[in-house]
Amino acid sequence: MIFETHAHYDDEKFDEDRVELLSHLLKENNIGKIINVGASFRGCKESLKLAESYDNVYASLGIHPEEIEDFSEENLQWIKANASNPKVVAIGEIGLDYYWIKDEEGRKKQRIWFKKQLELAKEVKLPVIIHSRDAAEDTLNTIVEYNTEDNKGIIHCYSYSKEIALEYVKMGWFIGVGGVVTFKNAKKLVETVQAVPIENIVLETDCPYMAPVPHRGERNTSIYLKYVAEKIAELKNISIEDVERITYENALRIYSKVKER
Ligand code: NI
Repeated sequence: MIFETHAHYDDEKFDEDRVELLSHLLKENNIGKIINVGASFRGCKESLKLAESYDNVYASLGIHPEEIEDFSEENLQWIKANASNPKVVAIGEIGLDYYWIKDEEGRKKQRIWFKKQLELAKEVKLPVIIHSRDAAEDTLNTIVEYNTEDNKGIIHCYSYSKEIALEYVKMGWFIGVGGVVTFKNAKKLVETVQAVPIENIVLETDCPYMAPVPHRGERNTSIYLKYVAEKIAELKNISIEDVERITYENALRIYSKVKER
């Protein structure tokens, strides 16, 4: 069984077959648990609805750095109020994205909301899911400051060097690996997967985006995680079953509110 640690089934690209996927198709294709991750405030509400509708679906609540424009203290309080829901298992995705935002004012605003949401996670005792793009140094510095024995998370869609990945591993954090690892030009991520212990890797799609080869460019679903597991097995020279089992246990360790198998 595979633990899908990062999906966006609230996305409109799933409007046609969301019910079929979540009610049986994913289960029939070896997908055990699914974390649906909020990115916008609307996405958070939708994630919670999905988690409450399907047994094996859980929600992560948080505002993505590209979505903070309309975010407010009131929204933050809503997340806090819902964090105690048994199906809410993480805060995210939160973080820094300097790829599109080049001006210092915009980046500063991202850092403010990033830190506020990290503090909230600490308060409600939930792990975090980090989105970070072109912001390696600021992200690592913020996490080093935030990290404690009880406050860990996943660096989702990991895109930096293996050296930085090992800094996160040293702190007991997890590296999210998805479809990109199957791409021809994925040299950096391949090196990272080789360097990071399998005990610190979790499987994720970020679907509907980032479909692995041989479906690159198509709409992604958790069913395609088998290609990611296959690639990691090849890189680590272990069986696909071991990749699935160990990453499943890893996900249960970080998302500790998801208890049963
Ligand atoms: Ni995502």
